[in-house]
Amino acid sequence: MAKTKTAFFCQNCGTQYAKWVGQCSACKEWNTVVEEVVQKVEKSGWKAVSNTSKKIAKPLRIQEISTEKELRLNVHDLEFNRVLGGGLVPGSLVLLGGEPGIGKSTLLLQIALKLPYKTLYVSGEESQKQIKMRADRIHPNSENCFILTETKTQNIFQQIEAIEPDIVVIDSIQTLHSDYIESAAGSISQIRECTSELIKFAKETNTPVILIGHITKDGSIAGPKILEHMVDTVLQFEGDRNYVYRILRALKNRFGSTAELGIYEMQGNGLREVNNPSEILISKNDDGLSGTAIASTVEGMRPLLIEIQALVSTAVYGTPQRSATGYNAKRLNMLLAVLEKRAGFKLGAKDVFLNITGGISVDDPAIDLAVIAAILSSNADIPIEKGVCFAAEVGLAGEIRPVQRVEQRILEAEKLGFNSIYVSKRNKIGLKNTKIAIHLVTKIEDVVSGLFG
Ligand code: TYD
Ligand code: MG
Repeated sequence: MAKTKTAFFCQNCGTQYAKWVGQCSACKEWNTVVEEVVQKVEKSGWKAVSNTSKKIAKPLRIQEISTEKELRLNVHDLEFNRVLGGGLVPGSLVLLGGEPGIGKSTLLLQIALKLPYKTLYVSGEESQKQIKMRADRIHPNSENCFILTETKTQNIFQQIEAIEPDIVVIDSIQTLHSDYIESAAGSISQIRECTSELIKFAKETNTPVILIGHITKDGSIAGPKILEHMVDTVLQFEGDRNYVYRILRALKNRFGSTAELGIYEMQGNGLREVNNPSEILISKNDDGLSGTAIASTVEGMRPLLIEIQALVSTAVYGTPQRSATGYNAKRLNMLLAVLEKRAGFKLGAKDVFLNITGGISVDDPAIDLAVIAAILSSNADIPIEKGVCFAAEVGLAGEIRPVQRVEQRILEAEKLGFNSIYVSKRNKIGLKNTKIAIHLVTKIEDVVSGLFG
């Protein structure tokens, strides 16, 4: 029996200390260092199985390294594939983070049920019966999906050896514990040990492993930051729980771009892939309402048309209220100041409410012009003509500024049947033969005269 050893770990960043300190010298957080029991044992986890593969890596000239396209496992879910950069890379570790109840377990169970490969879904949170009940709602029969409720990594590896799955899903990394470490499940040293055992397993058998990770109050994945460094891909599942739309994005991806985005809709029978998001984010109102404007934004690499609603009314109380849902409130105040100072609209005594429909939040500056258009439309109570959309940033001097990927935005608007779009005159547009009318504007006044005559 090896000697029991304790060490001190910062619960925020995972830095190890020999003795207790009040402030972590690495991340500067106070009172985050706690003592954990660490037991050093020669053999650890997957190592026991992997003694046979004692290959020593040799350096290769860069020209000698083969550049064959690496194989990817199609996960049979367009959105998930896209965010991964074209499928799961064999032997990779993917971490999926997200708030409780957002649908992480549902998403991965659904993918596991759809896969034509043998999948092992390990849950430390729910019983096999509970998972079966959920699976029945999603997809009634699958022959390749195995469910295991287990939290000890050594037992999990035993089952893996018996079943030999092509893909392993772990729900969640915070519930796992390894016999080689004494501290409680979810502690820094457990998470680190379990993850490194899983990495070893994944790399040596070329099996992809998907981990679910909890998220703390401030939105970061619970556990040490090193968890994110250890895995190949970090995905985040987010959305407003009161709405049905969920967004999957890559925060880190060693095998693809982090600009990709997947959109799902939560339904009674699982998550539906939303392949054409613009259509659902625009309400289908035929009678013109004042105060709504459509912006052509780009989320990640995907163009997306969203609807912005504004309500401007006379303030009842002395201090006018400004509130924004899905949009930065400071930016709203800035745009209101620009309207007041540069374009002469007296909004100082008005309440202004702004909302982006669908419960999504957008920080693309290219929606500024649509925000202004919605506010002006509500203020004058004149609806904006149907078929008009906007893609431009507004500067402090009231100038209409160019935005990136303007051509992609214009083409998406055209595809969805819009007949005119307002963009900055300073945007270079090389498009030819477009049916959509492109209004090039430089000042807010140009937009006002174009919209309201
Ligand atoms: P879940 O996957 O358990 O979330 P997480 O693992 O991220 O904590 O998602 C739970 C929510 O999803 C729950 O509130 C119910 C809802 N849901 C549906 O609306 N439809 C469904 O088909 C399923 C399975 C869940
Ligand atoms: Mg869950």
